[in-house]
Amino acid sequence: MILVTGGAGFIGSNFVLDWLEQTQEAVINLDALTYAGNLENLASLQHDPRHVFVRGDICDRALVDRLLAEHRPRAVVHFAAESHVDRSIHGPGAFMRTNIEGTYTLLEGVRAHWATLDSGDKAAFRFHHVSTDEVYGSLGATDPAFTESHPYEPNSPYSASKAASDHLVRAWHHTYGLPVVTTNCSNNYGPFHFPEKLIPLMIVNALAGKPLPIYGDGQNVRDWLYVRDHASAIRAVLAGGRLGETYNIGGWNEKTNLEIVHTLCDLLDELKPDPAGSYRRLITYVKDRPGHDRRYAIDARKVERELGWRPAETFETGVRKTVQWYLDHADWVAHVQSGSYRDWVEQNYAERQAG
Ligand code: NAD
Ligand code: TYD
Repeated sequence: MILVTGGAGFIGSNFVLDWLEQTQEAVINLDALTYAGNLENLASLQHDPRHVFVRGDICDRALVDRLLAEHRPRAVVHFAAESHVDRSIHGPGAFMRTNIEGTYTLLEGVRAHWATLDSGDKAAFRFHHVSTDEVYGSLGATDPAFTESHPYEPNSPYSASKAASDHLVRAWHHTYGLPVVTTNCSNNYGPFHFPEKLIPLMIVNALAGKPLPIYGDGQNVRDWLYVRDHASAIRAVLAGGRLGETYNIGGWNEKTNLEIVHTLCDLLDELKPDPAGSYRRLITYVKDRPGHDRRYAIDARKVERELGWRPAETFETGVRKTVQWYLDHADWVAHVQSGSYRDWVEQNYAERQAG
């Protein structure tokens, strides 16, 4: 079996669902169920004995040790993190704790466990660290896309904490020989995406007739990858990635934020027309994010060359599926829009009204 951390979050839950569709191997899912963790994402696995959910914190070394000793997983796939840049600006502490201290705690737990394995199991063991392209910082409009050897230049508390965790993983490999692989992925989108991030926020706001808040001039560029393609990339790297290596994962889909929002509005106009007029009428420019990275772009040739991985979805197919998923899952959206969600929206957007 494998141990997954953060498997009740957006990418983690999609990964667990994908894993159990593609393999017969059981999953122990360790997740603290913060605001971003949601067991509803895994409701289809409720009666599946291959999925064992454990509510707990990756900073809890005793718990990590107990789970490793009890279940003896052959791999750890580490998703658990605080993941939202805007929240990291308002309150960086939780990011330092989970992303840095949590990764450190897991690495130490795994190192102790790994030392007890026999030589065959030791060689087969993997610690797969799931990270982001944001560690590389920001690109100019004509710069080449990030390769794995691009210098680390994180600009937000979130990306700095992820960069720190990447460095810890690297050091545990070089110093202790821990069998690690790291993937640095671009922006994901798809089902179960918490509506504080760009794509689900815009869909949910549009359907509610609320403003679609564009930070700054809307010309910031991100590369977008359908979340199930990220899951398949992780499976490929876990199976065949070279130890100690990092792999950039991306969708070959660079888009400005404004292009994304226009696409979402046009799809909603087609799939759920609003008698009041096109959803584009709701676009509103608001105050920019401090330190807002201008452009991310991923060169994903290494993972293709070495492991034959390429995304299956184009942006057009993936975004259509995503919009349809949100239209079909109004109940999921209603459930995540709890009191704490409303408090966050209030806090983040109240101070941006200046435009
Ligand atoms: P998310 O915020 O949706 O989910 C994070 C999960 O981790 C939640 O289920 C939460 O309950 C859990 N968690 C948080 N703190 C924890 C703790 N201390 N102990 C145990 N569990 C804890 O995040 P996501 O978007 O699914 O991202 C998953 C991983 O992928 C993160 O490491 C993130 O940095 C990375 N990543 C995300 C993106 C993206 O576009 N979302 C892109 C590249 C990489
Ligand atoms: P986000 O989904 O938060 O991902 P990240 O900052 O990790 O890339 O934001 C994606 C882009 O969308 C980013 O450039 C910020 C922008 N954005 C808006 O313009 N308005 C919003 O309300 C949000 C949440 C994001």
